[in-house]
Amino acid sequence: MCGIVGIVSDRPVSARLVEGLIRLEYRGYDSAGIAVVNGQGIVRRRAPGKIVNLQSELNSAPIDGTCGIAHTRWATHGRPNKENAHPHQFGSVAIVHNGIIENFKPLREELAKCGHVFATQTDSEVIAHLIQYHLDKGLSEEAAFLAAVERLEGAYAVAALVGDSNQTLFAARHGSPLVVGFGDGEMFIGSDAFALAPFTKRVLYLEEGDSAVVKINDVCVRDKAGALVTREVMTANISAVMADKGNYRHFMEKEIHEQPEALARTLAAYVDSDTNLPMLGDAAPFLKSADRLVAIACGTAFLSASVAKYWFEALCGLHVETDIASEFRYRTPALPDHGAALFISQSGETADTLAAMRYCKRAGMDTIGVLNAPESSIARETSAVLRTLAGPEIGVASTKAFTAQLAVLAMCALGTAHIRGRLSEDEVKAHISALNALPKLVQQALQTKDQCEAIAPTLARAKQIFFIGRGVYYPLALEGALKLKEVTYLPAEGYAAGELKHGPIALIEEGTPVVVIAPTDVLMEKTISNVEEMAARGANVIAITDAAGAEHFTDRTENIIILPDMTGLTGPIVTAIPLQLLAYYTALTLGTNMDQPRNLAKSVTVE
Ligand code: F6R
Repeated sequence: MCGIVGIVSDRPVSARLVEGLIRLEYRGYDSAGIAVVNGQGIVRRRAPGKIVNLQSELNSAPIDGTCGIAHTRWATHGRPNKENAHPHQFGSVAIVHNGIIENFKPLREELAKCGHVFATQTDSEVIAHLIQYHLDKGLSEEAAFLAAVERLEGAYAVAALVGDSNQTLFAARHGSPLVVGFGDGEMFIGSDAFALAPFTKRVLYLEEGDSAVVKINDVCVRDKAGALVTREVMTANISAVMADKGNYRHFMEKEIHEQPEALARTLAAYVDSDTNLPMLGDAAPFLKSADRLVAIACGTAFLSASVAKYWFEALCGLHVETDIASEFRYRTPALPDHGAALFISQSGETADTLAAMRYCKRAGMDTIGVLNAPESSIARETSAVLRTLAGPEIGVASTKAFTAQLAVLAMCALGTAHIRGRLSEDEVKAHISALNALPKLVQQALQTKDQCEAIAPTLARAKQIFFIGRGVYYPLALEGALKLKEVTYLPAEGYAAGELKHGPIALIEEGTPVVVIAPTDVLMEKTISNVEEMAARGANVIAITDAAGAEHFTDRTENIIILPDMTGLTGPIVTAIPLQLLAYYTALTLGTNMDQPRNLAKSVTVE
């Protein structure tokens, strides 16, 4: 989602502003721009589409200065064109904004009555007008900025240039993250520490309601009450080297292939090397005493929660409710008195998941984050954090973060079953030994890539594609469909295999691809009966199974993808691999930008 970079320095900043924006590309965006103070005032360049368009704009009409702000915009209000691209400028003010200003309409009307003319359809432009309005009333630059921020409702991270010659960055956050970076004779602002990694790793995270005045050598932070405060300066735990594609064509491809290593790293972090039992750290007491679990997330992370529900209920006898964060937060949920809430998120910044977490916290629940970003807002606010050690995920579609979430949740279910006395030490150890085979199993599953590539043209030609599964493979069917549609734009739906005859089967036509996820388990035979029903109606069946399962599929199955034998809790993790590969190769066939699919953002910081 939108990204912010700001630099105040004794050297020119334009090129580095653009470099910072490039590091934010992974968040997803549809236009970009920069503004600098250049001696004659504030000047800006903006362009729709990718950052290369902004770079050519800058090449044909260069601008530079020693203080500037930059932005990648993911459109919410107003089309993704040049006019609506940030920075927005009014008078001697330029701003960039992440989030949504909910009261922008009344603010615009109020300012229009004072003669302000708006140039864009965005909610954000009103911030520049408000600051200028207060400057015109005679307020100082900082006072004008604070007075403007005071009027904003909704979620925002804002950075501003205020005044035609001021070598200062003004910043404020409420609901969207913002960090201040400390350089050598220069200072930075970024919507995450990753954007600033080439310049500095010494960062300060602004807290909710904070504002900051950033000058070349220092920063002055105020809390939401306006009092001057000191925030801890820390070393950001990220690689300064931008995760690059290595020998791969795309981040998605690279991240799919990184899964054996990511899983090995993640699993190792949860097994006590002395006892060979799961280690759940601060989360253990919450999971031991909870009488109910609530697992809340969005998108693919919600599907991890959905798999975990099967595991926790079967292994721990613990009732688990799963909820989509955007639904949970607005439906006045009845919460258990002694429950624990799990929040699963790659970014740890998803606005709805963050709000749901705060809701549970206010209700007195124990909150546990299952998170890939250790310095994220959710990580900083939950009572306990279980980290997924997938490493930075740059491709917008979640791949290694998903399987790492499943690995942590599997360990979590096993550890909980153990501390609640539902599984003996030996039973837990047997499960762990099965999980420890995951890096190897996933490596074997990656060898289905040529077969997935060969199937891709069939999917690419299809009008519509179905994914079906039962039990733990039902959420996997949903994930297969989600992955395919987000990177290929093809209509794809996932269903519980037993549900098809209650409606969706009406959509099956001659040749409709149906991807069936059915490795050997107690439900496999039932799924295969459903496959027969589909094949009888002309479906083009693509089965994902194991060697024993393959024996049960009839010759009416067009393609059988055979995975290694999967025991214990490994099945959903290993079956994710061919689903990701099918999505990747179909996108490759169609020529879509699978690393940055249209309309999507990596970190969804607006609701
Ligand atoms: C799909 C995908 C999204 C995210 C969702 C939640 O491939 O990546 O559905 O899973 O936006 O994001 P996080 O995990 O950052 O909360």
